[in-house]
Amino acid sequence: MHRVLFVSPEIPPWVKSGGLGDVTAALPAALRASSVDTRVLAPGYGVALEALPGAVCVAQFDAHAAFPACRLMSAGDVNGAPLLLLDCPEYFRRPGTAYQDSAFADWPDNHLRFGLLSRVAAILGSAASPLAWRPDVVHCNDWPTALAPAYLRLAEGAHAVSVVAIHNLSHQGVFDAATLHPLGLPLSMFAIDGVEYYGKLSFLKAGIFYAQRLVTVSPTYAREIQTEEGGQGLGGLLRGRQRELIGILNGIDTKVWNPAMDRRIAHTYDFSTIARKSVNKLALQRRFGLELGEERMLLGVVSRLAHQKGIDWVVGLGGALGNLPVQLAVLGSGEKELEEDLTALAQMHRGRIGVVIGFDEVLAHLIEAGCDAFLMPSRFEPCGLNQMYSLRYGTPPIVRATGGLADTVVDCDRTTLAAGTANGFSFVEPSMAALLATVRRALDAWNTPTVWRTLQKRGMSLDFSWSASAQRYLSVYQAAARDSHL
Ligand code: ADP
Ligand code: GLC
Repeated sequence: MHRVLFVSPEIPPWVKSGGLGDVTAALPAALRASSVDTRVLAPGYGVALEALPGAVCVAQFDAHAAFPACRLMSAGDVNGAPLLLLDCPEYFRRPGTAYQDSAFADWPDNHLRFGLLSRVAAILGSAASPLAWRPDVVHCNDWPTALAPAYLRLAEGAHAVSVVAIHNLSHQGVFDAATLHPLGLPLSMFAIDGVEYYGKLSFLKAGIFYAQRLVTVSPTYAREIQTEEGGQGLGGLLRGRQRELIGILNGIDTKVWNPAMDRRIAHTYDFSTIARKSVNKLALQRRFGLELGEERMLLGVVSRLAHQKGIDWVVGLGGALGNLPVQLAVLGSGEKELEEDLTALAQMHRGRIGVVIGFDEVLAHLIEAGCDAFLMPSRFEPCGLNQMYSLRYGTPPIVRATGGLADTVVDCDRTTLAAGTANGFSFVEPSMAALLATVRRALDAWNTPTVWRTLQKRGMSLDFSWSASAQRYLSVYQAAARDSHL
């Protein structure tokens, strides 16, 4: 397996809304370190093109169906992986996020914006490609790229195999049936064995149906999405493809997230100098207007504010802390109601609870370093990266045992402590009461320094680097290529 086109709607550092941005920054680079010639294809967002003034046009595509003519730009690299940007000003040069306008409403033409991205990915992977560089594999990420396998199916002549990586099954890219024609797809594809999904057109369903192989981002989530409860309407289809579906745990970028070298925190440290972590706690308390000192256990949250993440339980927890010696620092942005609830909570509990609404990467690092324990009570979590960052920063995570959280966090009890595997705290029941009970358990452990140090040491010693996972992706690419030759 030699060449991979990694297609992503997010381009770090310019356009990132969550973990997919981190994965786009790190996985292509890890694949290249394993001698796989990997290139990244992403939309030519205005911020990225402005930051990369040396971008040169390497191909042009004519208008097709409802798509306007567009250009492909060669524009620097993402940590060493050459970056191709799809320049279509009327689709991608807009204020707002990758998917939404400045008021957080989905762009009404998202099907066209990401349909075009998918189509160009397929062209680059087919005999019609204008580039000399031709990928063996088109690696799609989430719904905005998941129509590429359908377009590849339509391509004539030799073409790449496709792999769809599911980072979050709850975003499926479902649009009105009338979008079929503007997307340039034939009526014959609007079928159960095709892009159709309950009378509508679904990008993700199309990818799941047409791709040679499917990956999701943790082994537990791979099992969960095949159930009725976790399948979000696609469980049956995923069960039908279970032989081609595998869960590969995301890695983390161990250079960006390294407490011993991190310039974004108040004081660097490793396990042998863990006492210096408290300098970060003080800095964090100052930043969030919390009472200074070591008397209280400081809990941190960095999150998209969404139902998925159990932030409503964090709001409940904040109100229920009572006399517990616990402080809370929350950084996040997203659903308006949650933003308002959190802001109100901080106003009611000044000095105990601090909230920053916004997206701030530097502050995210200080929270990982400065808090004592990290909260991630997700209802579901395909992989989750923050719990791995926390482990590396000696900040035991408190999580709900679901998806990738269940695969990375080992709950602290007598048995796991004795076995030396405990690294944090987890609970199963999806409720605020279960979260509160687990925070109490964590508080007991925090008050027992030998136990706490054991947890920190274990977490800091774990290897979550990308190299092992990149090898697994390579095996998936090879299996996909074998299938296509059958
Ligand atoms: P998801 O992709 O579901 O949002 P992950 O845990 O995989 O969850 O990844 C989230 C990433 O986004 C992490 O790198 C996290 O630090 C970052 N992040 C989320 N919200 C914010 C925020 N408000 N400010 C800074 N970084 C954030
Ligand atoms: C998604 C998931 C998250 C995962 C990330 C990267 O946004 O919600 O759990 O870590 O993608 O794969």
